[in-house]
Amino acid sequence: MIVKCLTKFFKFGLVSIPLIALIFAISSSVCLASCNQIQSDLSSKAVEKRLLPVGQVTIGADLPTSPAELGPDAGQKRYESNCALCHAGGLAGAPKFGDKAAWVPHLAKGMDTLLQSVIKGLNAMPPRGGCTTCSDEELKLTIKYMTDKVK
Ligand code: HEC
Repeated sequence: MIVKCLTKFFKFGLVSIPLIALIFAISSSVCLASCNQIQSDLSSKAVEKRLLPVGQVTIGADLPTSPAELGPDAGQKRYESNCALCHAGGLAGAPKFGDKAAWVPHLAKGMDTLLQSVIKGLNAMPPRGGCTTCSDEELKLTIKYMTDKVK
């Protein structure tokens, strides 16, 4: 009886041990794959990306808008940090800073149109001249700083 029982147990064991090992291997690899997924979703880049719109809204709400709040050299500062990249050297067809002849056709459009061009972007110029944190008022002061130099 005991012998019969033992042989049955071993037969079962011979089949079931690799089977259990296989199930274990499959389930653990599934777990590893999904764990990696979770880990990559928690990477600082992914988290930053998810937080970004919230941060932008907060920054946007706090943006100073009046020229008085922005200070007298706001236009120059923004020009130097965001626009000089293209406009200092006339990159990609940008009207060069201080180059009166290059600015003539642009000045003729008037401030409102120039502001709209910068807000929406124009040909090689990205929307807002690439300054996503600049308020409309800041962009206007920056354009004024640039155009005053060629009047
Ligand atoms: C990536 C390069 C680039 C950057 C950065 C850039 N510009 Fe420009 N900008 C251009 C180009 C190119 C043009 C000429 C577009 C055309 O007329 O085809 C232009 C044209 C303009 C004009 C004339 C628009 C018109 O309607 O004629 C203004 C004003 C201007 N830029 C202001 C700015 C201001 C202000 C900034 C910074 C906030 C800025 N740009 C940043 C490339 C740039």
